Amino acid sequence: MPFDVNSLESHWMPFSANRDFKKEPRLVVKSEGMYCWDYKGGKVIDGSSSLFTTPCGHGRKEIAEAVYKQMSENDYIPHFSLGHPGSFELSEMVTRMLPDTINHMFFTNSGSESIDTAIKIVLAYQRARGQAQRNRLVSRERAYHGVNMGGVSLAGMVKNRETFGLTLPNISMIRHTWTEEQRFSQGQPLTGAEMADDLERIAMNFGGGTIGAVFIEPVAGSTGTLVPPVGYLERVREICDKYGMLLVFDEVITGFGRMGAPFATDRFGVVPDMITMAKAITNGAIPMGAVAVSDEIYDTVTNASPDGAIEFFHGYTYSAHPAACAAGIATQKIYQEEGLFQRAADMEQYFQDAVWSLKDHPLVYDLRGIGMMATVEIHPGETPGALGGKMQKDMFWNGLHVKWTGDNAILAPAFIAERSHIDEIIEKFRKTLDQQL
Ligand SMILES: Cc1ncc(COP(=O)(O)O)c(C=O)c1O
Repeated sequence: MPFDVNSLESHWMPFSANRDFKKEPRLVVKSEGMYCWDYKGGKVIDGSSSLFTTPCGHGRKEIAEAVYKQMSENDYIPHFSLGHPGSFELSEMVTRMLPDTINHMFFTNSGSESIDTAIKIVLAYQRARGQAQRNRLVSRERAYHGVNMGGVSLAGMVKNRETFGLTLPNISMIRHTWTEEQRFSQGQPLTGAEMADDLERIAMNFGGGTIGAVFIEPVAGSTGTLVPPVGYLERVREICDKYGMLLVFDEVITGFGRMGAPFATDRFGVVPDMITMAKAITNGAIPMGAVAVSDEIYDTVTNASPDGAIEFFHGYTYSAHPAACAAGIATQKIYQEEGLFQRAADMEQYFQDAVWSLKDHPLVYDLRGIGMMATVEIHPGETPGALGGKMQKDMFWNGLHVKWTGDNAILAPAFIAERSHIDEIIEKFRKTLDQQL
């Protein structure tokens, strides 16, 4: 596709150093399987499934063809009191993978919308069961729950909040679970479960009966793979039950096989009341998100309204868009037919060991990982994040794409990866580390 690298000004890019990018654009013009190609023809291996979106690999024809067919047959209908079969089929396919108690899906267009939707469902549920005073939400430091106002209010990342000031009231934060003594623990750290007790302190401080829900990424993804200590999530669940709070797992990254199990709830054996998801639901091909809720929540909210009335005043023009549903169904078929979640489980140890081979490098400060996700945290330079930003760029020109947050490089290869792909990712990672010395 021809374009002029001198005319990049009009697009204000998200979460990007716009001025810097435009001086030396990293423009991708083609992607297929484990690779993408920049506009100069350079071949780049994708070490992070793009943005944790693409576990089936890039350029899946099955998804493109399903979307094309859907668009040719029925391109759009509103989902407000009309429907099309795809959303019901996709809901069935996904809820079949979820815990037995979670059987209802509300569709959105992104992870951020899923979080804001989940907040509204919490408030609607508590009101419907006569507990409207439960309007306090609990989240964690170092949490990322997207960028809409609800998600920013729950966020524990200072850069995502400090510019915007005006966020939702009634949010309490508990600590994140990373501690110095956990450095270099592979899988779940053995220490730190007691940090779940922070939740009880919040309950005792504000009154357990005022708290609607607790939002938790089972493994904090965007702030660098913070794996829950052994026993931590179980303790969170216990405290939620004790005080009647809902537990929301934000599985926007951990869902759809990333943990070597369908969802993190399966990996950790802890069942929440709600699960938010997005990204890999369509292999990233078409924007889509969803909130899956328990029967108890769905029944309570819907039964609180008179027959024939709308029960939940919320929805997006593009909720359950036919193209997204077609992409979602095609993606679920690929997961099933190619046994990709099992493949992820089988590759986990090889991948984690490969990442741990970087432990000896003088720039590496910490390694954390579980499933098909791992973080290499480097020693910060004089300005935290500056070296990480530089390395992200250098890696790209060395033929490797990795998602960085500050000085944390978050690796999350597609589940179609062969061992040779993992080796190539780690080799290019080490080469880029060496160049910084
Ligand atoms: C845990 C979590 N929640 C929410 C989001 C927001 O998703 P989106 O960027 O699709 O709005 C993300 C994005 O990375 C995420 O990791």
